[in-house]
Amino acid sequence: MIQSVELKNITKRFPGVLANDHINLRVNAGEIVALLGENGAGKSTLMKILYGMYRPDEGEICINDQAVTISSPNDALRQGIGMIHQHFQLVPGFTVVENVALGLKSSRGPLTDLDVVSRRMLELAKQYGLQVDPSAYVWQLAVGQQQRVEIIKALYRNASLLILDEPTAVLTPNEVDEFFNILRRLRENGHALIFISHKLQEVMAISDRVTVLRGGRVVGEVATRDTTKQELAQMMVGRQVITRWEKQAAQETEPILRVQNLTVLGDKNLPAVKNLSLHVCPGEILGIAGVSGNGQRELAEAIAGLRRATTGSITSEGREIANHSPAHIIHSNIAFIPEERMLMGVVREFSVAQNAILETHDQLPYSRYTFFNFSAVNQTAARLVNDFEVKTPSLETPIKVLSGGNIQKLILARELERAPRFLLAAQPTRGVDIGATEYIHRRLIEQRARGTAILLISEDLEEVIALSDRVAVMYEGEIVGVLPPTTPVEELGLYMAGAKRA
Ligand SMILES: Nc1ncnc2c1ncn2[C@@H]1O[C@H](COP(=O)(O)OP(=O)(O)O)[C@@H](O)[C@H]1O
Ligand SMILES: [Mg+2]
Repeated sequence: MIQSVELKNITKRFPGVLANDHINLRVNAGEIVALLGENGAGKSTLMKILYGMYRPDEGEICINDQAVTISSPNDALRQGIGMIHQHFQLVPGFTVVENVALGLKSSRGPLTDLDVVSRRMLELAKQYGLQVDPSAYVWQLAVGQQQRVEIIKALYRNASLLILDEPTAVLTPNEVDEFFNILRRLRENGHALIFISHKLQEVMAISDRVTVLRGGRVVGEVATRDTTKQELAQMMVGRQVITRWEKQAAQETEPILRVQNLTVLGDKNLPAVKNLSLHVCPGEILGIAGVSGNGQRELAEAIAGLRRATTGSITSEGREIANHSPAHIIHSNIAFIPEERMLMGVVREFSVAQNAILETHDQLPYSRYTFFNFSAVNQTAARLVNDFEVKTPSLETPIKVLSGGNIQKLILARELERAPRFLLAAQPTRGVDIGATEYIHRRLIEQRARGTAILLISEDLEEVIALSDRVAVMYEGEIVGVLPPTTPVEELGLYMAGAKRA
């Protein structure tokens, strides 16, 4: 059993980047240490070193105060270290038990002792509250369940230190709560845990200590009970961060966007949006809160013209737009920040400059682009990149190499450039670090002050509360309540869970 793991003076260079700069980190059995930092701070690199995927240029690793060498992930596992990656590494066509058994040493070949594996797996599952069916195929499982399989897999191999790289990024709020219960049980059973995140709320909720990384260095180390979200945010970003926005009360005037009795089918041809009505006034942010999968995506797609409305109407400034083409909708003074920014927001292979002037979604990714006036394109792109503080090596850089936050800023820049009357923002800051999140929020608030009607769809309840004038909670395709943003979170939670409706 691991009593302690210590990383001492770890330095790792990549060409042109000092990813880890003399980092020290210690974690003890029975403890959850959070590793907090913005995208690119060096968190994954440090953990890949601990997990034997990279060799450090300098520094050493001690387990139970003895210096060790960790030369591969298998070696790490042998020494009791397991890692749950950001992207799972399960085989979809195999069952849960087959995945757990995969690579285990067995006298009779790896997949022949499945009964034994299954039995021990169920014991572990019971001990830690990791319910999962051993005979289910991985492709059948929800993301949260796949994550449990990854954890079981590591525990099965007797990992007593678990490294969790942004484990909550893929989970719904309810799944996060369950997941935290599992982590607490692991802690009670003497496991050591390193929890990587850039979400302050979660770090405050689950960790015992926090190490903050910025630009490859440790910039803070605190006991969680001695710190605050504000202080952590400041360490992480290197400056004061605004999380509460002052805004003038919105006026109830003639709405710009009106949705009436809208029904939209989901991918399985069942109604995902059911007879839904809402309106958004100029200078107002209407926030849609809800657990993912309650029709938010289908609602957004119907408004953007990417999915058919079976019944009902959607009007913008009195003109019907339901079932019009995305190109037509975009020409109706409507801007769209899509949830799937890599699929719908940008053309991955195109440069930053080209993406900055892409206008209509229906041209993606099929149309041929003819740029008559390169210098005009570059001028506009340069201005947007500058105004929106998009960090990019150059305008010619393919957009796919930028971080999520910078791609999102560029999409926002492009969409707001069109001075829309109505803006649909779907999960505008998902996967975006807090510096960029603050920036995006600031721009949305500015846009609101200019009289744009904004429909904000977000699974991040804090974001909805921070920005919205009214909060509409969506549950199973319906709006079950429209509430002021001052409503207590617990009460909003009841609406989100379908336990209450107005
Ligand atoms: N394999 C690699 N090759 C080159 N540069 C890398 C590699 N992995 C990470 N980096 C760079 O190292 C820095 C830290 O990255 P990373 O450890 O992934 O940060 P985090 O996990 O905190 O987001 C970033 O600047 C990143 O671009
Ligand atoms: Mg990372």
